[in-house]
Order: sequence, then C-alpha cells, then structure tokens
Amino acid sequence: MPISRRRLFSVGLAVAGGALAGCSSGARGGNESGAQVEVFTWWSGPGEKEGLDALVADFKAKNPGIDFNNAAVAGGAGSNARAILADRLKADNPPDSYQVHAGLELQSDVRAGKCEDLTALYEQQGWKDNLPKSLLDAITLDGKIYSVPVDVHRANLLWYSPKIVTAAGIASPPKTWDEFLVQAEALKAKGLTALSIGPGWTQKHLLETVLLGQLGPDKYLGLWNGRTDWNGPDVLAALGIFTKVLGYSDIASAAGDWQPAIDKIISGAAVYNVMGDWVVAYLSTSKQLVYKTDYAVTTSPGSVGIYDFLSDSFTLPKGAPHRTAAEKWLMECGSTEGQDLFNPRKGSVPARLDSDRALYHGYIAEAIATWLDTDTTVVGSLTHGVVANTVWSAAIDTALAALVHSYDAPAFAAAVASSYQSSR
Ligand code: GAL
Repeated sequence: MPISRRRLFSVGLAVAGGALAGCSSGARGGNESGAQVEVFTWWSGPGEKEGLDALVADFKAKNPGIDFNNAAVAGGAGSNARAILADRLKADNPPDSYQVHAGLELQSDVRAGKCEDLTALYEQQGWKDNLPKSLLDAITLDGKIYSVPVDVHRANLLWYSPKIVTAAGIASPPKTWDEFLVQAEALKAKGLTALSIGPGWTQKHLLETVLLGQLGPDKYLGLWNGRTDWNGPDVLAALGIFTKVLGYSDIASAAGDWQPAIDKIISGAAVYNVMGDWVVAYLSTSKQLVYKTDYAVTTSPGSVGIYDFLSDSFTLPKGAPHRTAAEKWLMECGSTEGQDLFNPRKGSVPARLDSDRALYHGYIAEAIATWLDTDTTVVGSLTHGVVANTVWSAAIDTALAALVHSYDAPAFAAAVASSYQSSR
C-alpha cells in the first residue's frame, strides 16, 4: 500500500509533540541596546556561506539601520556551533537568533525553555498559509510555532562524476546497497576507492541512508518512534550492510568536513559520496562545475521515491538582547524574496510554497518538483535533527563512534535501543 506524505510525517513527529504540552513560552525580553542583530549559524564554508551572504545582503538593504553580526561557527553540520551555543545559552548570553533544524532538535530546545513562541509573528506575517503543513508540523508544539524555516534539504543522495564512473567501467550507479557492494568489490580490484567519507556526522548521515534503503520508509520511521525493534534481525542485517559499506570507504584517512570528501569524487580519489543537496551549491557555485557533466546525483541506494528531508530554521531565543532587530531578521528569513535569494545559492528547496520557480534551475528545480509531488514519500533525517531529540542523537553519536571501529552491530543496536528509552 502506498504511504502518503502526510501519514509518514505525522507518525514521525507525533511522539514528542504530545510530550511538550507543559512547555513554557513566556518572553523574558532583551534590553534592546543598540541597533544590531547577532545571528548564529554554521554556514561559513564554501557552498554554505554564499546562500547566507545573499540573505544577509537583502536584510541589510531592507534594514540599513541594523548592524548584522555574523556569528557563524564552521563545520560539523552544526555540531561545532551547537556546542558553543549550548555554553552561551547556559551562561545566559544568547545570540539574537540561531539556526536549528526543524523537528525534534528544535523540540529539544523548546522543551528546555530556550525559544520564544513565534505564533503572533506568524499571524502578523501570514506565513502559515505559505508553508507546507508537514513543515509547519515540524516546528509546532502544543499549537505554538517556534521557528522560521528558510529551506528544505534532501539527505538521501548519492553523488558521483559521470566521467569517473564511466572510466571505472560502471554502467550506472547502484540502485541497492547490495549492488553497491558488488560495484565496490570490482572497484577495489582495480585499486579504486568506492566511497569517500568525512567526520562522524557524515558517517551518521551514511548510516541513516543505509537504514532507509535496507528497511524501507515504514520501518525506518519506526526506528525513531519505538515501533521498529533495533535488536531485530532486519535492523541487525542492515547494520551489517552499513559496516560492509564502510569497509569500502576511505574512513581511515577521512579528514576535514563534507567538502573535502566531495572533492574526492571530482578528483577520482573515490567514486561515490553520500551527502545532502548542499553539495549542489558547493559544486555549482563555489567550484563552477556543471550539473550532469562534471557531477551527477541519484537517490541513495534503495530510496527512490523517498525524500529524507531536513529543514534549517531560525529561532528567537529567550532573552535575545536585540529582540526587535531579531524579529526583523526572522521576517527576512520568512520572506519570499529572502528565500528566493538564499535557496538558489544554497542548493535547497524554498520552505515557502509561493517562491518564484523561474529562479531555480537544474538539480534544485528537480528537487522542488519531487518535494511537492504528492506521490513522494517523506521521512525525516536523523543526522539533521528531524527524528531524534538531542539527548538520543548524542547517545547515537557515541555508539556510532564505537561501531565504526568495532563493527559490532548487536552492541550498537543494544546501545541505541536503551538510550532511546532513557532519552524520553
Ligand atoms: C546541515 C544543514 C545544511 C548544511 C549541512 C552541512 O545540518 O542543515 O544546511 O549546512 O548541515 O553543513
């Protein structure tokens, strides 16, 4: 039976939504000293900075009296930034707005009392009517809305260079992980590395795509809401495939963030890389490479028709020192013009439904069509904050760091299952 977008989404997010009924949302207010706004993101590297710069330029043009303080902390898909942010929030020193993923990552912050309710701003700006319901659900808790999404990214993608794949004697990229392993063995025999990989978070990103491809969307979603048994035979088999896939990667020499791993599929140091569609911005804009000629993309093995989504959004932290300016920044993030400047440069689909489609070309135009196609099955990303709260996600990081050395799938599954119980 086909699985509808809406049903999958509600299954994925219902659990924590109910648990937040008692969450407080009262404003503490800032002292509004000076016309400035400090915005905290992890977009400072090539392929990420360009989109932020375009959004900031539009913000500055519309708000000439406000100084923009770019507090970006590079790398780690936000893990570096979130560590620093946590210290600042603990020390009662919040920025005026910070980047957070829609879904349970945001819910964790709301539950901890860090974010203000933005429902009144939504009503004033008329944003509710311009966002997909599924996305609104991911930022709404107990009927209140807590962040402003700027984009939608897709995680389940396999990147490659058509020239390198052809030169390696491969007719087409693998459609299943079993097929990947067959190709990987043939590549190894030729002295080639099948897969490039980066730091821990990119290994987690690979893990979620292998689980999705092997288990299918229903069981994948069940991993995050307690309905799929982590210790069951099908999950253990999928984890076994993950460790085999890793065995064909360059994990031993992985260094840097996601960009160096992508560089390897262009140089030929590796044939494939699994990564989100921010890759498009890096290869097309920063590297000036041509889609479908210099690089190409397909769904990660076993996940055709599935959109493993994530969304970057911005908050108003409690105690933001420049609250009025922060609201102006949020208005920029939520605006059609802002999103149409940001997303073509970020490789992402605009969160808003009323974007100017003429501005989107190549891969992003295709992604918009797939995201809005009612036949597409939508699931949420683990690595990028949709399906696991921050406590559980951190416990998965610890277990994964052990798994990539031990290859002990049962120990990993047991650790993840028990940390799910304790994180609730
Ligand atoms: C994700 C984020 C993307 C991109 C990526 C790589 O978590 O949502 O926008 O920045 O990290 O850094």
